[in-house]
Amino acid sequence: MANLDLFAAPDAGDRARLDALHAELHRHAHQYYVLDAPTVPDAEYDRLFRELQALEAAHPDWITPDSPTQRVGGKPLDQFAGLRHAVPMLSIRTETDTESSGAQAFDARIRKELELLETDTAVEYVAELKFDGLAINLRYENGVLVQAATRGDGEYGEDVTQNIRTIGQIPLRIQTGAAATAIAVPAVLEVRGEVYMRRDDFEALNEKQRALGGKTFVNPRNAAAGAVRQLDPGIAMQRPLSFYAYGVGEVAPLSVGRLFATHMELLQTLKAWGFPVAEEVRVVRGADELVAFHQHTGRTRDQLPFDIDGVVYKVNSLTLQQRLGFVTREPRWAVAHKFPAQEQLTRVLAIDVQVGRTGKLTPVARLDPVFVGGTTVSNATLHNLFEVRKKDVRVGDVVIVRRAGDVIPEVVGRVAPVPAEAADVPAPAPRTPYIPNFHMPRACPICGSTVVREKGEANHRCVGGLFCSAQRKQAILHFAQRRAVEVEGLGDKLVEQLVDADIIRTLPDLYRLGLTALAGLERMADKSAQNIVDALEKSKQTTLPRFLFGLGIRHVGEATAKELARHFGGIDAVMDAPEEALLQVNDVGPIVARAIRTFFDQPHNREVVEQLRACGIHWEEGAAASDAPKPLAGMTFVLTGTLPTLGRDDAKDRIEAAGGKVSGSVSKKTSFVVAGTEAGSKLTKAQELGVAILDEAALLEMLK
Ligand code: IVH
Repeated sequence: MANLDLFAAPDAGDRARLDALHAELHRHAHQYYVLDAPTVPDAEYDRLFRELQALEAAHPDWITPDSPTQRVGGKPLDQFAGLRHAVPMLSIRTETDTESSGAQAFDARIRKELELLETDTAVEYVAELKFDGLAINLRYENGVLVQAATRGDGEYGEDVTQNIRTIGQIPLRIQTGAAATAIAVPAVLEVRGEVYMRRDDFEALNEKQRALGGKTFVNPRNAAAGAVRQLDPGIAMQRPLSFYAYGVGEVAPLSVGRLFATHMELLQTLKAWGFPVAEEVRVVRGADELVAFHQHTGRTRDQLPFDIDGVVYKVNSLTLQQRLGFVTREPRWAVAHKFPAQEQLTRVLAIDVQVGRTGKLTPVARLDPVFVGGTTVSNATLHNLFEVRKKDVRVGDVVIVRRAGDVIPEVVGRVAPVPAEAADVPAPAPRTPYIPNFHMPRACPICGSTVVREKGEANHRCVGGLFCSAQRKQAILHFAQRRAVEVEGLGDKLVEQLVDADIIRTLPDLYRLGLTALAGLERMADKSAQNIVDALEKSKQTTLPRFLFGLGIRHVGEATAKELARHFGGIDAVMDAPEEALLQVNDVGPIVARAIRTFFDQPHNREVVEQLRACGIHWEEGAAASDAPKPLAGMTFVLTGTLPTLGRDDAKDRIEAAGGKVSGSVSKKTSFVVAGTEAGSKLTKAQELGVAILDEAALLEMLK
């Protein structure tokens, strides 16, 4: 029994391991949730997590509230506890003038308050997005999250700590170790920001709720608010929430003004401490730059993954903020500048039924045209029969229409007739009596085939398949779309003509179209006919993922098509793969595997593939990657300069084949910059950010 250390506590090793696991899991969670750049595969994270769980099971007294295992759990509450905010949560003055004049008016007011002369320099502002979620105050004591509260009336809020803890983007403990800031975390720090739901998360949640026949949410904001105020944390946990920090509440012992000179410095420090801060914040000077920010954000808002309802301007200097002070409950130094709304009221003129590519029947409301979310909308989806019934929408009703991002416009609900004196919008007239309820047709309105609804399914479907011209049209448009094989100029009007005239019945017919057939169509100029022929010719050279996606196999979207192509390498291998083999592909579960198998078990589908190939559609087949290891999984690369032997595309393909990602710009999320000769600003940026730099030889070594 040599080397027995009589003085070491028996659990010292476990204790150290537990601390190490805390730190490592916190770091991975930050990389994953906040930076969106995982550094380890999910399986490795799970392994560390389980190891920590096992250690905690052996030493229950070592479990602390900031342990990564403590995000979940907690019992349902009867009600939330009320609490008083240490520093009131103010609201912001809203500039409802959605034109540029709104920004100019704010700058003019600030200059006047500060008694600036026309000859004085421009005031510096921070321009931010106005997130459409709900405000939350996160209280940290000695770096540990101790309480999360809603805004309430600004003075009193509700304690929603249990639910907020489940949000992966919110640190349970502030990271100091690796933080790129010299500023120590104050003993008391309240971080304020917005809890919101991303649009894709919202769509997926509603899709799930619809499939289960459950309650759907009107918009991401309501879904987020519902989740935060959900008494059962188990349910709250299943609602995918996100967070952006935009300010602070109580800060002690030193005040914010003592710690920072500007609001921007504060935001950058919050980011360094591990809080998500929106990429889109900008420091701008004067009214013109505020206007430019407002306009740019308005134009690009559809491309953001979440809803915003405007932008916020804040005076950057904290000293000036203090000088400007408050009016009642609003600071003079900030303003919210709105955008035109993404929801509008209009009247339902009719409810029609549309047949989609997979035969799904969708009730569509024909609307009195209304300008919403940047375009004029005259049709909006009602999803399915059950949604129509639940929303109780009938012809003649006034409804709320929502169009946000590139999501299809939808009817979110009916406006109940309100007493005239309570209405701040023109009150809809009561319904005329005897408006019949909407019914699904028993036969397909397009082809007359039977309409069925499978048990437990919310959707009605036409069983006509490709016999149904609506499904044929959609199948062709799907194949020809930009993200599939791309036949430029083949739009819905032309497809409609071609299918209705019975010129094309199947996908291969498309490639048998001659110039004469096309030019013979009504309203078709010779030049346009030639353009289509050329576009068809061009589309023959494609890639396997595009082709697979274009076939329109149920549940096979672009991402799955890419995975299938990468895994199997060639179309024949995909067509012949048994379900067990399909299940080996990333992101392919039993439902998708079944759908792929069913599709290729139909002889006519195999026939379509053969005929398309016979028509000259081709792509380069690769080697099956199914067994190849993925040494670069989870890593992001940026290429710059000229590499000695590898071409740009070559290097990119090889990195991607090894599971890595290639990005065009360097950020903190970049794992490696691969630099060749004449590398420029990207290399400098990498050096500034401390991103690791590789040469070609080092890259090839990693690829081995
Ligand atoms: S600052 C003193 N910044 O807008 C200023 N608020 O009435 C306090 N909001 O419900 C708020 N995005 O949750 C600020 N970038 C942003 C914001 C923002 C959204 C919300 C906030 C509150 C309302 C302000």
